[in-house]
Amino acid sequence: MSYVRLLPVRRTARATTRTLAERVRRAKSGVRQRVEWEGCPVQAWVNGHIVTDPDAPAVAVTDRGFTVGAGVFETLKVLDGTPFALTRHLARLNHGAAVLGIDSPDDALVRRGVAEVLAAEAHPLQRLRITWTGTTLAITSTAFASYSPTTAIVTSPWPRNERSPLVGIKSTAFAENILSTAHAAKHDAGEAILANLNGDLCEGAGSNIFYVLDGELRTPTLESGCLPGVTRDLVLEWFGAREVDAPLGVLLEADEVFLASSTRNVQGVHAIDGRALGAPGPVTTEVARVWAEREAQSLDP
Ligand SMILES: Cc1ncc(COP(=O)(O)O)c(C=O)c1O
Repeated sequence: MSYVRLLPVRRTARATTRTLAERVRRAKSGVRQRVEWEGCPVQAWVNGHIVTDPDAPAVAVTDRGFTVGAGVFETLKVLDGTPFALTRHLARLNHGAAVLGIDSPDDALVRRGVAEVLAAEAHPLQRLRITWTGTTLAITSTAFASYSPTTAIVTSPWPRNERSPLVGIKSTAFAENILSTAHAAKHDAGEAILANLNGDLCEGAGSNIFYVLDGELRTPTLESGCLPGVTRDLVLEWFGAREVDAPLGVLLEADEVFLASSTRNVQGVHAIDGRALGAPGPVTTEVARVWAEREAQSLDP
C-alpha cells in the first residue's frame, strides 16, 4: 500500500503576521504562545509534531483539504484520557478517504498522534478531532463540558442532498452544517434538523435523530442521506430501533425525540420549532441508561 509521505511544512516558506521582534517581545512579556480555535485553547499535532507556535504554518497552501474541502475528519470524545470508539471512527475516516480517492493515513501514525496530543494535556472530558486531507494529518484536542440532557431543535432552512457523492462521509466540506448550526443558535436552539431533498426526516447538522412513534423507537435509514453516526450505530446495536424513512413532519407526531452524536451521546429534545415536548421521555431515559452502562464496559466497542 502506498502512503503519502508525511513531511512537516517547510519553515523556510513561512509567511507570518508577526515579525521576529514582535515574537521576542511577546515571549519576554510572558504572553503564552498557544494555539486557539474558536476562542478555546487547543493542543494541536500536525504531521508528526505537536504545534507549539500558533503562528507557524501548519498546512501547505496547496493542500486540497484547505483549497477545495477535499478531506475527511472525525470528532471523538475522550474520557479520562481515552478516546471513545477510536477504531470505529478511524474506519469511517478511512472509508471517507477512499470515497474522495485519497489513501488512508497510516493507522499507527494516527494512533501515535492521538496519544501525543492527549499526553500533552489531560482533562476529564475532551473533544478530539482528527483531520486528514491526503497531505495533512492534523489532530487537535480541547476540553469541553457535557451537553445538557435535553435541548431544543429547529428545522433547518436548507436540505441534505441524499444524492450527493459526499453522502455518508464526514467531509471537511462542512460549511453547510455550520450554517444550519448558526441558524439553530439564532433561534435559541441547540441543533438544526434537516430534511432531505425528498422532504424526509434526515438528521441534525451534527447529530443523528431518533424518535418514538406508536411505542417504537425509529430512526431514518442511511438512504435518507444521514451520516452513519458511530453513536447511531451503537444505539442500534445496544438498544435497537427500526430504520425507516418518513416525512419531516413525523417529528410533530412523535412522543419522544432524541439526538445522538459522539459529543452529545443521547440528548433528549424538549422543543421542536418552539413546540414543547416532554423530555427526556421514558424511552430516551432507558436508551441513555443502557448507553452509560455499555460505555463503561468498553471504551473501544
Ligand atoms: C452531520 C452529522 N450527522 C451525524 C453525526 C453523528 O455522528 P457520530 O455519532 O459519529 O458523532 C455527526 C457528527 O458530527 C454529523 O456531523
